[in-house]
Parts: sequence; C-alpha cells; structure tokens
Amino acid sequence: MKRLIIAIDGPAGAGKSTVAKLAAQQLGYTYIDTGAMYRAVAWQVLQAGLEPDNKTVAALAASLDLKLTYVNGKTAVAVNGRDITEAIRTPEVNRLVSRVAQVQALREIMLTLQRGLAAEGGVVMDGRDIGTHVLPNADIKIFLTASISERAQRRWQELTAKGYTLALAELENEIKTRDKADCEREFAPLAAAADAVFIDTTELSIQATVEKILELCKERQECV
Ligand code: DC
Repeated sequence: MKRLIIAIDGPAGAGKSTVAKLAAQQLGYTYIDTGAMYRAVAWQVLQAGLEPDNKTVAALAASLDLKLTYVNGKTAVAVNGRDITEAIRTPEVNRLVSRVAQVQALREIMLTLQRGLAAEGGVVMDGRDIGTHVLPNADIKIFLTASISERAQRRWQELTAKGYTLALAELENEIKTRDKADCEREFAPLAAAADAVFIDTTELSIQATVEKILELCKERQECV
C-alpha cells in the first residue's frame, strides 16, 4: 500500500497536533510537528536574550543544530544536543514565535529540512504552510479550524494544566494576534490550499476528527 503524505494546516489551537499525532499512530506513519521547529528557534532567541530582528534570526537559522525525533508516538526536540521538548511550550515562546517565523531566511532553511523529512512518504506533517508551500503535492491536504473561543479555551486548559496562570480573554487576544501575524506575513503565510478539505473541530471530538482523516486516507488509497 502506498505510504501517503498528509498535510494538516490551520490556526493555533485548532487541534492539529493532537489529531495529526493520533492519525500518524493509527496509520503507522511519522508525525512531523513543524510548529515545534519554529518554536525551537524562538526559544533560542529568548535563551540568548537576543532581539528577534531579521538579521539575528537569520544568523541563528544558519547555524541551527535542530533535531526532531519521533519515537513511540512522541516528538522530541533538541537544539545543540539539549532537549527542549517542554521548554518550547511556554507562554513566552507562544508570544514570540510568530515574529520569528516571519523571517524568510529561516523559512527557507525549514523548507529544506521539512521536505527532507517527508521525502519517503508515510508522514503526517502539520503547520501553517504545509499544503500550500512545503508539500504542494501531498496526497491529502486538510485545513483544520475551530472557533476562536474554542481554540482559546483549549490553549487555556493546556497551559493551566501545566501550572500557568492566564486570563482566558488575554489568551484569546494573543491567539488572534498570532493568527493575524501568521496570515499576513509576506512569505508562506497561513492559508488553506485550494484542494484542502476543511474540517471544523469546534464541535467535533478528537476521535471523530481522526476518523474523518483516516476515512480520507482510505478513499485516497483506493484510487492510487
Ligand atoms: O503550531 P504551533 O502553534 O506550534 O506553531 C507555532 C508558530 O510557528 C505559529 O504561530 C506559526 C509558526 N509556524 C509557521 O509559521 N509555519 C509552520 N509550518 C508551522 C508553524
């Protein structure tokens, strides 16, 4: 059976990584979290106390020693040999990452890395520009959305479970700001591919969303 390439895009908090991970597990595919790659660079900027201007981010990108590993259904992220899997999920990284992800030199490096990771097929890759830019020939393209209040609620639950104290309204505003920056950036913005299947997860359970994706895979396998 052909090992498919599945691209999942959508705004923050739509459930991309949760469903992408589960779909990959059920298909026996590799899951590639491209947001984690941009987060790793944002973490480096914060760690070094740098200004996230284009020149600084481009220089960091040029010397980037980033490793993404996927073992037993879990993605681990390491920079310069240091595991930063948890460190890239903080509110500080959330706030900075869209700014960093706008830098074209960084996106070009990521593009090469991401295409390399997907080259052999059998992958589910999620992000913002996967169906439009990174993998325009993906076998299946999905655009996952949910209402802004639902997405804010999900992120709030995720962060409060980790012990952060945040106001829901403030988080909702931050997500809106991030979505706007991701949609309006010049190079490879967040957008649905013309041939993407839209799935609104506002009222759809995780399992129901995964099943929809698996169903699309089955249909696709039947025509290849
Ligand atoms: O999916 P996430 O929230 O972990 O992504 C973090 C940020 O990275 C997001 O605000 C935009 C950026 N990103 C991107 O520009 N392109 C991608 N393919 C994935 C993420």
